[in-house]
Amino acid sequence: KKYNVAVVGATGAVGETLISILEERDFPVNELFPLASERSAGSKIQFRGKSVTVQNLADFDFSKADIGLFSAGGSISEIYAPKAGAAGCIVIDNTSQFRYDEDIPLVVPEVNPEAIAGYKTRNIIANPNCSTIQMLVALKPIHDKVGITRINVATYQAVSGTGKEAIEELAAQTAALLNGKEAECNVYPKQIAFNALPHIDVFLDNGYTKEEMKMSWETKKIMDPAIEVNATCVRVPVFYSHSEAVHLETREPITVEEVRELIRNAPGAVLMDERKDGGYPTAVGDSAGKDEVLVGRIRKDISHPNGIDMWIVGDNVRKGAALNSIQIAEVLIKDYLS
Ligand code: A2P
Repeated sequence: KKYNVAVVGATGAVGETLISILEERDFPVNELFPLASERSAGSKIQFRGKSVTVQNLADFDFSKADIGLFSAGGSISEIYAPKAGAAGCIVIDNTSQFRYDEDIPLVVPEVNPEAIAGYKTRNIIANPNCSTIQMLVALKPIHDKVGITRINVATYQAVSGTGKEAIEELAAQTAALLNGKEAECNVYPKQIAFNALPHIDVFLDNGYTKEEMKMSWETKKIMDPAIEVNATCVRVPVFYSHSEAVHLETREPITVEEVRELIRNAPGAVLMDERKDGGYPTAVGDSAGKDEVLVGRIRKDISHPNGIDMWIVGDNVRKGAALNSIQIAEVLIKDYLS
């Protein structure tokens, strides 16, 4: 069986990757509908060697699509995802718009694929936040074995998570500064080139940013409501792939070698952990462009009896967004639609 697939936000950083991953994984696409704003309507994208015209989202009839992959921002999903769902198109939404609604499944296929069954209520499935996805792919087998009670995490997040304009801003600021010119700040409130900004998404009343709270809310919803998460999310001048310094506290003790063995066997994860120069994963060279989440720097926390430290790196546009959405779609068609 083949499916008509709409990609909402087809001209964006995630949308373009969605389309290339559909092609790469040979997803059973009958007709592809790339959708964007009226600004890009009429432009062409390439799919399976053919050129396909981008259509205006506002004019699209969602009864023509079986599956809708949404990545055009929360305010767009708020309006169009329920419309698509009501028209019989099953939406996999990459924004945070519906993630915390009780009747919406929030899914990392390696962690809670069974939650996909809940799509039927509203025809919407939410794709989690990029930082949460990569962290949970690595932590799921550890939680199953010894029970994670608390996670302290600091992230080092790439600008592609903000979108295309942010990718351009980092490139433009870097070039300007190296040429002795001033850096112009449009997307971020402070210079991102050669800097680190402890600020992702909006500030909330408790002093955390929304990105930080997403890691807590989503870990609870996807893996276990008993896990406490304390996150600090930082934007760094990296184009693709988020890195995370993760500190775990577990119910039962676990050795470094046991953690390594769990990561070796974890679906979607790869162990890259040698205690020598370069024996750890980084964004550039190891992770960007790859599907797997890479894990290294595994060690006992000297400050806590049941503490484990590790470094987790994942491509935020692929596993953190487009790939995870398509993996959800793959389970959906295999287990529910065929
Ligand atoms: P467009 O290129 O027409 O503006 P990014 O996250 O990289 O910034 O990309 C955002 C994506 O969301 C783009 O494909 C963009 O299309 C799309 N988008 C933004 N605003 C709208 C809108 N009002 N209607 C439809 N698509 C939109």
